[in-house]
Amino acid sequence: MTEPNCIAGSATKLDPAPCQPHVQADRDFAAREARSRMKKLLIRTWGCQMNVYDSERMAEVLAPLGFGPTDRPEDADMVILNTCHVREKATEKLFSELGRLRVTKQARAAEGQPMVLAVAGCVAQAEGAEIAARAPYVDLVFGPQTLHRLPEMVARSARAGGLVLDTDFPEESKFDHLPEARTTHGVTAFLAVQEGCDKFCSFCVVPYTRGAETSRPAAAVLAEAQRLVEAGAREITLLGQNVNAYHGEGAGTLARLVEMLAAIPGLARIRYTTSHPRDMDDALIAAHRDIPALMPMLHLPVQSGSDRVLAAMNRGHTAADYLRLVDKLRTARPDLALTSDFIVGHPGEEAADHAATLALVREVGFAGAFSFKYSPRPGTPAARAAQLDEAIKDARLAELQALLAEQQLGFNRTRIGTVFDVLLTGPGRHPGQIAGRSPWLQAVHAEGSAVPGTILAMRAISATANSLTCIIEDHQQERHAA
Ligand code: SAH
Ligand code: SF4
Ligand code: F3S
Repeated sequence: MTEPNCIAGSATKLDPAPCQPHVQADRDFAAREARSRMKKLLIRTWGCQMNVYDSERMAEVLAPLGFGPTDRPEDADMVILNTCHVREKATEKLFSELGRLRVTKQARAAEGQPMVLAVAGCVAQAEGAEIAARAPYVDLVFGPQTLHRLPEMVARSARAGGLVLDTDFPEESKFDHLPEARTTHGVTAFLAVQEGCDKFCSFCVVPYTRGAETSRPAAAVLAEAQRLVEAGAREITLLGQNVNAYHGEGAGTLARLVEMLAAIPGLARIRYTTSHPRDMDDALIAAHRDIPALMPMLHLPVQSGSDRVLAAMNRGHTAADYLRLVDKLRTARPDLALTSDFIVGHPGEEAADHAATLALVREVGFAGAFSFKYSPRPGTPAARAAQLDEAIKDARLAELQALLAEQQLGFNRTRIGTVFDVLLTGPGRHPGQIAGRSPWLQAVHAEGSAVPGTILAMRAISATANSLTCIIEDHQQERHAA
């Protein structure tokens, strides 16, 4: 699987709206004119999908101020680094990125072109004061819950100069203050439905950086989904730090919300991430059986296979609870692919605990997983406990990753010879190829041509660790559900 928490460098792009051919040239000219007058915005995003979603929303909130996208820091009137605090490398990456941007900012200033430099996201939330001290040339520092105040922050910074710091957990929800119109026009889209976490796992910063658990009302989610579908989305991934703890007004449970979303015409596929085993209720399990648009794939982090370590982690379930859940899920939806997150080397983890994790992996058989060495996070309980040797952590991680990689390739190979629906997302890497997604979120390549958003039946003919090569089985019929 691609590392979810290290997507540094992915710039948020605002795709232009599709145009009619006969007015295309005029519009191109007008767009070029408008762009040349526009201020340029570069957003770099690290971390989870929620940060990707937040970056899109930041671009939307700044668009009315005349900001349009650029990929080049030297052209940027504003740069936002949307950061992740979940493991330490991201913080160091932030400071080295800031060092480079300082040089660009100075070069622009010498030419009379200011650059607003902003740090957003979970590092900003947790380490706002440190950023101000270590990088005083930064103009704005704001956390995940105040991004709707960006225009006000930009104005304050322009008026007063100096650092504007906003790491509040405000009473008002950012969702009530963000623009309604979504500017993303992709075939696949993210939609935040829940945010924050009250679970306080021993190792995790998220409850401190994202704040308490909240859910958006169903009406707001449905309206946003409807707009995404009108803009071309056919697959929506519902996001939340504990998405299956969703309890928004008007739906009450994630299962009910999925059912409501599945009724939107044109929305062919629904996914959700990330789930906690404790919140996986029977209604949601049944939804995997009963709702065809709900894709047969579930990311269900277990972190460890040892009950001792799970207790030390404050996860609130045992390995046997997890295995029972997997059984129930597979009974409801036999083709369900499971993915997970693992941490090796949590304080107190012994050789037998690590062996229990490997045993759980063998028993479940994962289609993919993210695995990490435990990294002490400031302010979390596990950071205060005695730490394991790095060499032990390295060896355990290598062993676990070898097993998970073998399972991932094995899972991809099980698709060879089978026929399934592929949602086309765009052209493939080579001329004459198309790219898409399988129901199990595998990247698919095939020879042929078809409009992105089309769903075609394809047969897998070969598999690698990260993708499937397919041939189109059904050229004629566009299918509405995978
Ligand atoms: N809400 C999700 C996970 C959020 S963080 C859940 O409950 O599972 C994403 C992943 O980062 C976690 O699943 C965990 O595997 C990893 N992670 C979190 N804190 C970590 C730490 N201190 N060291 C190493 N990995 C960590
Ligand atoms: Fe972090 Fe645990 Fe909350 Fe997941 S459930 S976000 S790992 S505290
Ligand atoms: Fe990272 Fe914050 Fe997401 S710490 S994983 S960006 S919630």
